[in-house]
Amino acid sequence: MKRNDPCWCGSGQKWKKCCAPVAPPNELTDRYKSQYQIILKSPEQIEGIRRACQFSAQVLRDTCAHAKAGITTDELNTFAADQMRAAGATAAALGYGQPPYPKGICISLNEVICHGIADERPLQDGDIANIDVACVLDGYYGDCSAMITIGSIDEEKQRVVDVARIGLERAIAILRPGALVSDVGEAIESYAEDQGCSVVRDFVGHGVGLHFHEAPQVPHCRNRVNIPLVEGMTFTIEPMINAGVVEGIVDPLDGWTVRTADGKPSAQWEHTVLITEGGCEVLTSGSK
Ligand code: MF3
Ligand code: CO
Repeated sequence: MKRNDPCWCGSGQKWKKCCAPVAPPNELTDRYKSQYQIILKSPEQIEGIRRACQFSAQVLRDTCAHAKAGITTDELNTFAADQMRAAGATAAALGYGQPPYPKGICISLNEVICHGIADERPLQDGDIANIDVACVLDGYYGDCSAMITIGSIDEEKQRVVDVARIGLERAIAILRPGALVSDVGEAIESYAEDQGCSVVRDFVGHGVGLHFHEAPQVPHCRNRVNIPLVEGMTFTIEPMINAGVVEGIVDPLDGWTVRTADGKPSAQWEHTVLITEGGCEVLTSGSK
């Protein structure tokens, strides 16, 4: 029986629309591409993306371990960039967007929500910072980020660091074929709300793997993106959690640094995940 043949059951429909057991992977791949612009990855592509993700996770882990009071964010950026160069990888952030992002990794301190730019400022006691590492290895992309804390931090900073990390964990826990993209935002925002924190709306998770930013967008707040997750999807979840108001302001001078409108702290953790038959694989596992 061919997929377009009239079904043997006599319904008059094509077999593929009627009694065919399940759509073969390539048909689902075509449908996700045309309907959602989502690229479902082949086993070979997954292998390449997994390597890029594991490498990104390693650079992130080492860079976080290198972060100490007194070291400048520029020194951290150079440390990460050197590791990438040595491995024949490149930084996805460098030159990205408009104006071109000027550094290899993003370092976002305290009230900076995301896209902070490394400079001469030394880390100091009481700082929190997000370090975001996205590497291109053999043409494949990995993307992850984590928080570092310097010395003793206040209760408000500790709360956003923890809520962002646990929010990400809770979102990962619901991933499986058949769950919806919107279930991610529900898992994160319901928890953040309970903890008295706000969830940033202006920046979202994203498909990743063959390109830096692919479909779908993955909001971290409650939303109506009712796309079912299917095997072979690779995307990031990267919640940004604020202690105060949800609004962010882009620095008018550098065009990148996003700060909370009220100056209160913000935190973010990020993984790249793969949807599998049994649930998901955290491709950037071991990052911190
Ligand atoms: N994880 C961030 C993102 O997906 C990394 C941003 S890099 C930058 O957007 F170049 F856009 F800043
Ligand atoms: Co990302």
